[in-house]
Amino acid sequence: MKVTVVGAGNVGATCANVLAHNEVANEIVLLDIKEGFAEGKALDIWETSPINLYDSRTVGSTNDYSKTADSEVVVITSGLPRKPGMSRDDLIATNAGIVKQVTENIVKYSPDAKIVIVSNPLDVMTYCAYLTAKVDSSKVFGMAGVLDTARYRSFLAMELNVSPKDIQAVLMGGHGDTMVPLPRYTTVGGIPVTELIDNEKLNEIIERTKFGGGEIVKLLGTSAWYAPGAAAAQMVEAIVRDQKRVFPVCAWLQGEYGMNDIYLGVPVILGKNGIEKIIELDLNNEERALLEESAVAVKNVMSVLDNMNVVA
Ligand code: LAC
Repeated sequence: MKVTVVGAGNVGATCANVLAHNEVANEIVLLDIKEGFAEGKALDIWETSPINLYDSRTVGSTNDYSKTADSEVVVITSGLPRKPGMSRDDLIATNAGIVKQVTENIVKYSPDAKIVIVSNPLDVMTYCAYLTAKVDSSKVFGMAGVLDTARYRSFLAMELNVSPKDIQAVLMGGHGDTMVPLPRYTTVGGIPVTELIDNEKLNEIIERTKFGGGEIVKLLGTSAWYAPGAAAAQMVEAIVRDQKRVFPVCAWLQGEYGMNDIYLGVPVILGKNGIEKIIELDLNNEERALLEESAVAVKNVMSVLDNMNVVA
């Protein structure tokens, strides 16, 4: 069983490394356009196998998609990352062309693959891949919520001095500054978080979460990779092992939450068929207003893509 990661940059290579360590697939193909780059990263990862005691094979490929044939899951990380001062939306023109081309090649060799998009601007690149792939929307979705909730949960764990393992949370909306962490659906070992932390502190953590990607860009001069790579790998594992995990995922909405024709972060059940169910929460007025605001932001960028006519 094969999994492909397209883009051997920091996020793609980290994802492949986590997949290999966790033996999520027998073969993990890492593909990049830069000559020898994916081969080098894949070989370096493979050379950790005798140390870390796993036997998933990592294989590199310079733009030869025949090596990706019959992948069960494909993660697309290709595209430019953000630099300081850039928003994720600034990347749309460059990354849309790249994501379109990659998706065409992927679908040609793996028509049944589940496709996980990681490229930014996330929600709109997922839309771009969906328009290109022309497969059911249950098979094309984006990684954002697993990363964004991980940031939220990691900040809460620091503040409360508890294990991050015990923090569960739901976060909805787009992968941008309008994302919607939901305190009402956040628990610490089953205890509502609102019973453990005052409002002011919780709001600070929510704000930090919304700008969590930017915080790393500011520190590093480029965007994050450990958490994004691990988050994408966790989604792949849920699919490959048919775990039916409940994750916030960027999914195509057709009436759910009263919204249509939009890719937006919502809680879903992830299993061997991809998105097996979109879970509809009974949001209160305030939560719904925040989600709608986020949807407007995503729709604006989706229409930029539509007007660019990148995808016929
Ligand atoms: C981030 C990028 C990957 O949030 O969008 O770090």
